[in-house]
Amino acid sequence: MTTARRRMGRAGGRQLAPGVTRRHGRVPPVQDEAFFRYLVAGMRNGVLAFTRDGRLALINDEAYRIFDLTPRHDDLGRPLAELLPSHPEVVRMLNNVFDLHLLPNRAELRLRPSGKVIGYTLGLVRDDSGRVIGASMYFKDLTRVEQLEERERLRDRLAAVGEMAAAIAHEVKNPLAGIEVMAGLLRRKIAALPDAQALLTDIISEAKMANAIVQEVLEFVRPIRLQVEHTAVRDAVQSAVHLTDTKARRGDIAVDVRVPEGLPLIQADRYQLTQLFTNLLTNAYEAMDGRGRITVLASSVSIDDGGEPRAAVLVEVADEGPGMSPDLAERVFKPFFTTKPQGSGLGLAIVRKIVDAHDGSIDLQTAPGRGTTIRVTLPVTALHEEQ
Ligand SMILES: Nc1ncnc2c1ncn2[C@@H]1O[C@H](COP(=O)(O)OP(=O)(O)OP(=O)(O)O)[C@@H](O)[C@H]1O
Ligand SMILES: [Mg+2]
Repeated sequence: MTTARRRMGRAGGRQLAPGVTRRHGRVPPVQDEAFFRYLVAGMRNGVLAFTRDGRLALINDEAYRIFDLTPRHDDLGRPLAELLPSHPEVVRMLNNVFDLHLLPNRAELRLRPSGKVIGYTLGLVRDDSGRVIGASMYFKDLTRVEQLEERERLRDRLAAVGEMAAAIAHEVKNPLAGIEVMAGLLRRKIAALPDAQALLTDIISEAKMANAIVQEVLEFVRPIRLQVEHTAVRDAVQSAVHLTDTKARRGDIAVDVRVPEGLPLIQADRYQLTQLFTNLLTNAYEAMDGRGRITVLASSVSIDDGGEPRAAVLVEVADEGPGMSPDLAERVFKPFFTTKPQGSGLGLAIVRKIVDAHDGSIDLQTAPGRGTTIRVTLPVTALHEEQ
């Protein structure tokens, strides 16, 4: 093999530019050591390399960010166990690298302290003679991808269950309407029997309630088709307050809406947003039993979940109700979970569905006796619209 062919091989089969060779002749200024340092620093993957004795040889900013580490000037040379004390599972895996026959490629692992999911690839570092002198790890924060996949799975599941539920609900609706109408006719026929009248009134109201639940189930299982437009959060919240007043007993509850001027409009479905806030306010009314204050606070925030930071609006709905135990709080978003005798348990499940459809997120802060705050974060522009 000629020198020229060997050289081409090293260049990955591609011809080098005229006058440029790897080892001899002119080296373009970009290929000096600083260039490689900048390359690693600027990578959008986390990169970490270490020597055979388990000491850090290289790390970039993204790696610091993913591991939630604060950089120290003496990090290089530190043992991995000392650098990553809260990630013993990562340290163990890295220390085993030199004993593995097959290095993981595109493997995944969950970082315990933060719950982040990372996708990683391991590689060996060899010197000119082929001797292994270290190893490297390339990784990416997959939390966001995971969330999207989880949502996708949930959507598929809901679509399958939903189809069946929708079919049943549809079939039940007609006989229910029949019961209601016929009970009404019967009531008129037996005007002279007050006891029987009372029974029929009960039958009618039970049928109405069953019908309302069927409606809600249908609403829940129907896939959301968003009619997206530039929407002011303030309008959606105000409409929700009016709507809630027609649906639930407000009593002396004060509702304090604090939405600052200049909050960005968000790409959202106005109707769905109104429904979202109506469900939250209804729960707050029901929890507070006619007394106290509900505060709806909106602010401009930025979502930073591993990708590019995205502008978003955070809406917090805080009530002074009884709050919830951690056990209860964990279950409230599940469909059909309710503690109310007349509840269908779909209010918050629908809220979550709407938030997901808008590519947003929701969480709640609550404790017994401390009220409940539900925090909804909605991106100004949903991810799929940015592309
Ligand atoms: N603001 C709140 N304060 C205290 N508990 C709440 C609050 N919001 C929800 N919950 C609890 O979560 C449960 C589920 O709420 P969700 O809105 O999904 O259903 P529901 O209100 O019971 O019924 P539906 O909304 O369908 O009429 C409630 O039954 C209640 O126990
Ligand atoms: Mg509810």
